[in-house]
Parts: sequence; structure tokens; C-alpha cells
Amino acid sequence: MGNHINVRRRLVCRRPSRSPCDITAFWNDKTDRPSEPDSKRTDMLNEREMLNEREIESCYLGQFIPVHYHHNMLMDQNRMHGFKSAIDYAVKPGMKVVELGGGTGVLSWFAAARADKVWCVEFNPDMVKEARKMLALNPNGEKVEVVHADAFEFLPPEPVDVVICEMIHVGMLREKQVEVIESFKRRYLARFGGPLPIFLPEAVIMAVQPMQQEYDFEGFHAPIVQFQETAAIHPGVQELAPPAVYSIIDFSQPTDSIFGFDGKFVVERSGTLNALRFVTKNILAVVPERSTTIDWLNHYMCLPLAAPVAVKAGDVLQVSFQYRAGGSIPSLEASIRAQVIYDVNLQPVVQNAVYA
Ligand SMILES: C[S@@+](CC[C@H](N)C(=O)[O-])C[C@H]1O[C@@H](n2cnc3c(N)ncnc32)[C@H](O)[C@@H]1O
Repeated sequence: MGNHINVRRRLVCRRPSRSPCDITAFWNDKTDRPSEPDSKRTDMLNEREMLNEREIESCYLGQFIPVHYHHNMLMDQNRMHGFKSAIDYAVKPGMKVVELGGGTGVLSWFAAARADKVWCVEFNPDMVKEARKMLALNPNGEKVEVVHADAFEFLPPEPVDVVICEMIHVGMLREKQVEVIESFKRRYLARFGGPLPIFLPEAVIMAVQPMQQEYDFEGFHAPIVQFQETAAIHPGVQELAPPAVYSIIDFSQPTDSIFGFDGKFVVERSGTLNALRFVTKNILAVVPERSTTIDWLNHYMCLPLAAPVAVKAGDVLQVSFQYRAGGSIPSLEASIRAQVIYDVNLQPVVQNAVYA
């Protein structure tokens, strides 16, 4: 019984305005404890002060990424090349750098090539160990101090020049990039005054696109969320209209934590609208002297629509959705509305006047 009370305490949302859960406690719970019998588990989850299952899952995968996922991140050349180029560009010799959510420490290590000092902040105790171990294997690793702390609470002991943060999921869902950076800016200004450091990424552009998507898996029909390579050709995927930008985040400015869209698309290709594609382009660094940017395009996320709509070229679609930064994918899915508001076939045929 005493043990259950402790477990409950450890899972309680302590500061809902800050972070959705006590992540370290949750992690320890997930990894260290034998699983509870179903009845006890249900009891525990029914407690009012407990996290619900979706929040737990969000803490587990959305924010607290297990060690084996980090291999995939290291293997993602698109991501790695983008960050390496942007860090090489933004971090000048002698600078001080903070990385929030350091994982293996790879981005901190990129920064250590030029910086004097890097604080690499990581909350997952397993990743803290991994990062320390890996940094010790690499030249300049000694310039990186791995700090076991919550990015919602950490501040460096002195002002810094650059803050790197890659807690990025498509659409700024699940992970806490927006909230972590907002919290950091507020606390940094209170402690050190301005100016704020440069944030890397500097900005994010998010867009949405109406799609026809195939959901046939060896004859099994399964409309399901999909993540797609951006450079690959996907058979069975058709773009019905060009994408529309629904949000631009500039991390040097105060950032709203609610994202939404209520807009129209003119359909360019007839088909069945059965999915929305979410596009997230991270502007890792702005390079004004070359009038360019160093970008990282996340995999496309395609969400199936609950009610597919037949569309024809020339139709006008009204699409809307809303979600909060760090929210779950189902919360976005549940808010999506899509309907044809101008049916090209129902319009009177206009006869062109013939001039002799
Ligand atoms: C997407 S990974 C990126 C890791 C690394 N920066 C990279 O690019 O390979 C995000 C990291 O942030 C960590 N993290 C999530 N929430 C955190 C928090 N509140 N405080 C510190 N680290 C956190 C996760 O454990 C994970 O290692």
C-alpha cells in the first residue's frame, strides 16, 4: 500500500503549467518496476490526480525518448547535416552555448568544435550516462558539461551566445520545444536581462496540404497516421492542392502555444480527400550574407480524415483544425474539419459571348 502511495505521488502532475508530468519519476517507474496487475493499474490510473494513459504515453515517447531511438536520430543524415552546418555557422570561436535536451550529446559536440564551453542539459538519466560516455570518446568532448536537469528549470551560470534545442516533432506536437524555449527565455531575461541568445533553430514554418492517400496494406484497409520521407516518391499518394502555411514561429519573439488553421483550398486534381499532410520546415540558421537559410525538413506527417470527401478539380475546400504545442496527435486529428464549400459541378454554366 505504502508503495502504491509512493508510486502515485511520483506520477502526479506537480506543475501542470510547466510540464505535463514528473518525467524522471515516470521513467524510473517505466523501467525499474515490475508491471502492476491490471486491476491495480486501473485503480491507480483512475485516481483523479493521476496522469491519464495518453499523457503518460506522451511523456514516455513524446518527451522522454528511449535510448534506442537515438540511433535513428544519429542515422538521419538530413537532420545531422542540417544541424552540423547550422551549428558550424552560428557558433563562433570563444562562444558559450547551452543545449536543451542533449540526448547523446552530438549537437553539443558539434558546438564544442568552436565554443569555449557547452552546457548539455538532459533529463533522462540513461541518456546523461550515454552522453558522458560518448563525449569522452571524442576530441573536445571535455568542453561539454553534461547537466542532469529539467530543461524547464535549468539556467546556465552565466549569459550564453547560442541555445540549441531539438525537441522537435512534426507540427510541434508531442515534444516540448515551444514550451521549453518560452520558459527558458522568460527565466533567462529575469536572471541576466537582454539580449537573448540566438536560438537554433531560429524559426519554424508549418503548412498543411489536402491529400489522397492509399491505406491498403496487402488488402487490409487501415487509415492510419503515417510519416513519409520528403524526398521519396510514394505510390498511392496524390497532392490534391498546393500546401498552405498555417504558422510561422520566430523563436526570438514571444511564441503562441496554440496553432490552428481555418482556410480554403482550390482543388487542382480530382480524387478523394482522405488525409491531411502536415509539413514542418525548421529554419536552423539564417545566413543573411548569402541571402539563404540552413533548413531541416521533418518527415511529412499524414493524418487520415474520419470522413473522406470526393473532390473535383475546381472545387473549393474549407479546412480547419486547432491544437496546442506539445499536444498529442489524436488531439489534432479530433479537431480536423474538411468540407467542399464550392462544388464546381453545381455552378451554372457561363456561356461566353461570341463576337462576330
Ligand atoms: C529529439 S531528442 C534530441 C537529442 C539530441 N539533441 C539530438 O539532436 O540527437 C530530445 C531530447 O530531449 C530530452 N528531453 C526531453 N524533455 C526534456 C526536459 N524537460 N529536460 C531535459 N531534457 C529533455 C529527451 O530525453 C531527448 O534526449
